[in-house]
Amino acid sequence: MSDSFFIKNKTAIIVTALAVSSAVGAYWFYSQSQATSSTSRDLGDDSPTSGSSSKKNKKKKKSKGPSSPDPESSSPSSTHKKSPQYPVNSKGLPDITSDVADKLSEQEKESWAVQLKEDGNTEFKNKKYETAIAYYTAALQLKEDPIYYSNRSACYAALDDHENVIKDTTAAIKLKPDYTKCILRRATSYEILERYEDAMFDLTALTIYGGFSNKSVEQILERVLRKHSIKIVDQKEKVLALPSAATIGSFFGAFADEGELFGVDENSEGGGKFLYDALAKIKANTREGYDEADTLINQAVSALEGDASKKDTYAIALEYASAFQFLKNDPTTAADLINKSISIQPRPRAYVYRALINADKSSYEEAMKDFALAEKLDPNSPDIFYHLGQLHYLTGNLANAETNFKKAKSLNPENVYAYIQLACITYKNGHQQEADEKFTEAKLKFPTSPEIPNYYGEILADKGDVDGAIRQFDVSARLQEKLDRFSVGALPLINKATVISRESLERMGEAEELLTKACALDPKSELARISLAQIKLQKDEVDDAITLFEESCDLARSIEEKIQAISFAEATKMQKRIKNDPVLTAKITELMRQSGAL
Ligand SMILES: *[C@@H]1O[C@H](CO)[C@@H](O)[C@H](O)[C@H]1NC(C)=O
Ligand SMILES: *[C@@H]1O[C@H](CO)[C@@H](O)[C@H](O)[C@H]1NC(C)=O
Ligand SMILES: *[C@@H]1O[C@H](CO)[C@@H](O)[C@H](O)[C@H]1NC(C)=O
Repeated sequence: MSDSFFIKNKTAIIVTALAVSSAVGAYWFYSQSQATSSTSRDLGDDSPTSGSSSKKNKKKKKSKGPSSPDPESSSPSSTHKKSPQYPVNSKGLPDITSDVADKLSEQEKESWAVQLKEDGNTEFKNKKYETAIAYYTAALQLKEDPIYYSNRSACYAALDDHENVIKDTTAAIKLKPDYTKCILRRATSYEILERYEDAMFDLTALTIYGGFSNKSVEQILERVLRKHSIKIVDQKEKVLALPSAATIGSFFGAFADEGELFGVDENSEGGGKFLYDALAKIKANTREGYDEADTLINQAVSALEGDASKKDTYAIALEYASAFQFLKNDPTTAADLINKSISIQPRPRAYVYRALINADKSSYEEAMKDFALAEKLDPNSPDIFYHLGQLHYLTGNLANAETNFKKAKSLNPENVYAYIQLACITYKNGHQQEADEKFTEAKLKFPTSPEIPNYYGEILADKGDVDGAIRQFDVSARLQEKLDRFSVGALPLINKATVISRESLERMGEAEELLTKACALDPKSELARISLAQIKLQKDEVDDAITLFEESCDLARSIEEKIQAISFAEATKMQKRIKNDPVLTAKITELMRQSGAL
């Protein structure tokens, strides 16, 4: 529940943010604004994979040579070799020495070169790539024509010699910067060699030369960006860390207070004392307390292990150890620990933890089984029904979700999240007024809870009531400030910033201020950073944006979120590189002017 509002909007937010600043946003601008893709072709139609289609030679622009035969009508290579103008070696291959070349007039050079190229084309069609290379090389000795480099690069591509593809296409592009065929071919080779950044640069250039109209290039670009990002994330050292206190707080907040449920108290010793202290830290819900609780739980587990007289306490310590591993996004260890706990002495809560672990990996049936086991153990356990409701909510069964949230509320009237979820469901079902009433009821019951106005604000924002939403976020932030617990932390600040920056660009400064505060308030909030990064991009403070995206990648716990954050960083870096390229920048400016965006 908690972050869904943002997760949902994250991509949209960054994309629109990028669209605003001219050159920086060019790629996103095109990718978002262009829905149509034309079918006309111009790129890569001489790629080796496209075969020797009859179509491809029809649009030959470059057959200046007076006597140059049309490669299309020409049959086997022998027809060309009958009377070559140029000297050949013993193998029948062209043999252009500098002595020979120096004696030729410019016109002769041109005509020889054209014939060499045509002969190369014939060899290429016959898949004699090495031979074709010899012809193109000879042609290049007489004339540095980008087409000859392009042709030779096609041979290297067919031979999977990507280093040479890159060399030749680079030479061609140097002579003809908008040579799209070569740019695409080079991008392909860069991708194969895993030089993803270079591939992305070329692909972005292609989208620019294509007037931002080529959807298939866009798809390749997305694919390369993803590969590149995955590679970066893979290379990062894996550190398991707890999420923001706001996330942990709402996790434990949805469970009933342990109270005096089991036999540990402040006078306990050893493992029992560690557990008692850990629970106190969890209950306090402070920013720093959770890391300490984590350490204490581990100490409790070690101290209690093998102590037969404290079996029950050990099982509970394992439950908590499992929950912390789960929060650190280590579901495998979490599952091991919870099974161990269940095998010693199960509580309903242990089954609920396992259900959450299963639901997290979309094993909903397994999760339902766990809930059934929990219910069998204690049909009135307050811990079961809120989470069962969540599972139904997640799988789109609102009616069942509502039934369970109601039961959760009656069994544990202190669970503020049950009230919030019930109000949200009412809203989702289209009963706005009733939802308002439910939020009001919840506010009366929990007058100091920052959660309620925060989520109420999200509902109002969803409804389009910007002013109402902002008021709620303000109330939430104020309540959070007064609270000694962490609760929602920076969420209302982030929410408010998002709403106002979507509302009007003029309020960007205000949004920036809020998000800067949010980052300070919750240093573990990846959301605060990613949101601030978007503002920085709008302000064209590109380097700050990159740093923030990278930080949020480190803070994110799921691989998918990490990949997303790093791909924002890398896309931004790419835009920076494009911006530093005068030719491309000029082209973008021209396009933006044509489209009326400037
Ligand atoms: C778009 O790019 C692809 C290469 O991926 C190319 O085959 C196609 O012809 C291009 N289309 C246009 C309209 O440029
Ligand atoms: C060589 O270049 C010409 C002109 O672009 C093209 O028509 C021809 O198909 C190319 N041949 C090869 C093998 O790439
Ligand atoms: C935990 O126990 C369940 C039920 O017995 C089993 O299906 C699952 O594979 C176990 N998981 C681990 C990680 O041992």
